[in-house]
Amino acid sequence: MRQLEVFEAIARLKSFTRAAEELFLTQPTVSMQIKKLTDQVGLPLFEQIGKKIYLTDAGKELYKTCLGIFDHFSRFEMIASDMKGMKSGKLRISVVTTAKYFTPRLLGMFCKKFPSIDVALKVTNREHILERLVNNQDDLYVMGQVPNNIDAIAEVFLDNPMIVLAAIDHPLANSEKISINRISEEFFIMREPGSGTRLTTEQFFQKHNKKIKIRMELGSNEAIKQAVIGGLGIAILSRHTLSLDAPLGKLTILDVQDFPINRHWYLAYPCGKQLSIVAQAFLEYLKQAPDILSDFTYTHTSALTPP
Ligand code: PGA
Repeated sequence: MRQLEVFEAIARLKSFTRAAEELFLTQPTVSMQIKKLTDQVGLPLFEQIGKKIYLTDAGKELYKTCLGIFDHFSRFEMIASDMKGMKSGKLRISVVTTAKYFTPRLLGMFCKKFPSIDVALKVTNREHILERLVNNQDDLYVMGQVPNNIDAIAEVFLDNPMIVLAAIDHPLANSEKISINRISEEFFIMREPGSGTRLTTEQFFQKHNKKIKIRMELGSNEAIKQAVIGGLGIAILSRHTLSLDAPLGKLTILDVQDFPINRHWYLAYPCGKQLSIVAQAFLEYLKQAPDILSDFTYTHTSALTPP
């Protein structure tokens, strides 16, 4: 097991030095473990070209096997601690950028209830989350609707109203029932391609046969809010992006026809995946305690402060 651990770390980090650091071992110890493993396998596992380390074909096969063994072993550890009456292990969860406004708090509450659970949280945009889901890289995914061509189980757990955001002094700030014709005359600040927020905005304009006037593309919701405050344009964003530190007094939600667009947040995982005990515990936690989600639910989308 020790040799496999050392091998996995080198293969992942592509460096003997960094593997030694991560495992708190000396470099000669790491080299010795790999020599023993190579002798047992009878084939070279790594090749060095210049300063870079690559896995040989045998190394690639061993790496896949290693990941399987570690996965099974961590499943066993979770089962054993579950039998002892405590939930422990690691929850690997990946969430779309916009879900960062509530997922860490939910995870915080969950970890308070199960203090022996560790969490690895990855935040990236919708396109990358879908890639991770297809490649089965994590336990659970938080995202908008999963496309039909991906074989996944997805359960809705929270509303995700999409609103139109403008600077407080925008000429439309106090208008009521703004028409779609009128709103499409405005310049929009958009998220980057691959973002679910962008997809929703594009689908909205497509549905109404309008062209979007894009002033600027930004890869972060926070940067978009600042650009909106700066008067560069307006934006369609999730209501959740205003949840924590809404720059009160500087932004307003426009009252536009057909808004909010009612989307939802899903917890998803690949069909056929055997969920780890901690992943099941997290799903159950969200289902059994709907009150914990009430902090993240917006009933009055025109108000800037949460209910
Ligand atoms: P995004 O996804 O953060 O990648 O824009 C949000 C969503 O799918 O609603």
